[in-house]
Amino acid sequence: MIHQFDSSLHNRFGFYYALLGSNLMLRQDGTSLREYLSLPDLPESSDIREVFPEVIGLEDDIKKVISGEENEFVLSGINRENQRTICFNLHIINYRYKGYKSIAVVRDITGDINSIRSIQQNRNEIILLHNKLVEKNMELDAANRELIESRDETRKLNLELEEKVRQRTSELKESYDLATRLFFQTVNSLTHALEIRDPYTVGHQHRVADLAAAIAGKMRLDEKITEGILIAGQLHDIGKIYVPSEFLTKPGILSEEEFSVIKTHPRMGFEIIKDIEFPWPIASIVLQHHELIDGSGYPYGLVNDEIRIEAKILCVADVMEAMSTNRPYRISPGTLNALNELVKFRAVKYDREVVDACIELFESGEFSWDKQ
Ligand SMILES: [Fe+2]
Ligand SMILES: [Fe+2]
Repeated sequence: MIHQFDSSLHNRFGFYYALLGSNLMLRQDGTSLREYLSLPDLPESSDIREVFPEVIGLEDDIKKVISGEENEFVLSGINRENQRTICFNLHIINYRYKGYKSIAVVRDITGDINSIRSIQQNRNEIILLHNKLVEKNMELDAANRELIESRDETRKLNLELEEKVRQRTSELKESYDLATRLFFQTVNSLTHALEIRDPYTVGHQHRVADLAAAIAGKMRLDEKITEGILIAGQLHDIGKIYVPSEFLTKPGILSEEEFSVIKTHPRMGFEIIKDIEFPWPIASIVLQHHELIDGSGYPYGLVNDEIRIEAKILCVADVMEAMSTNRPYRISPGTLNALNELVKFRAVKYDREVVDACIELFESGEFSWDKQ
């Protein structure tokens, strides 16, 4: 016979217990069960079914424990809502104590339940968060996919656009190259047409054009102006096409009348090319290429600033070339004499700066007829 509440039971259950008689009457041993169940007025002796209505219908199972037929009977997960919420398991144990054959012991599992609930709740929250994360990730994935698709689309459009620009640029370049080729072929044809009638001037216009462009370069004139001078140089005597070829090829001195016919060539040249839409004032340059700054030139006897700079340059280049080559009516005086002629009439007939640039070109060796 054990007269003291066993420490192993105490370790297993805690302090909450009552003695149980064979008539199913519970006898309070101390205040522990009253306190636990928050029932301070619970009588010292009461029917177990009143204290734990959950055992109603299970009396036979309890009696088997009291009689020693079974060692223990357990009813799990009983809840009470008094001053606080508690949850416990009720154990009926065959146990001799203070003249009784069994005791009813309560094992509090409120904390366990709360922990489980809390864990469950945390788990639910984690699952919820996880689901939200998955959802968010899916949304991000979809947005990413759209971005990638749109980026690919943009890249594709860009490539197409670049290809079109490349193609169009190449077409334009081809078309520009063709136009340029046709332009120079036309200029060459016009030059050639004159050279057929006046073989002594073969290459004259090209050489004048080269020297005039070199002078313009030396004077650091705008590139566009230099281009105009080059083209005008190649066409400057085109008006001679109207001069009878016997005048052009006549050996000896020309009569005044014959010379007056030759002097019409700047105006004739102007008439021939004035309707061509050159991007430079070619017709005007051709018209003025025999004007001299003292007004002694032709056809209009213009002076100084009345004459275009391009025409002043062409005039000097023309004199240099003409004096450097043989003509039907004379042997070439030579380049040196030509330069002397320029010096002699520098700032008289010929523009000072143009003459200076021309002399510098020859003296420095930057330009010579052989190089052309
Ligand atoms: Fe001329
Ligand atoms: Fe000429």
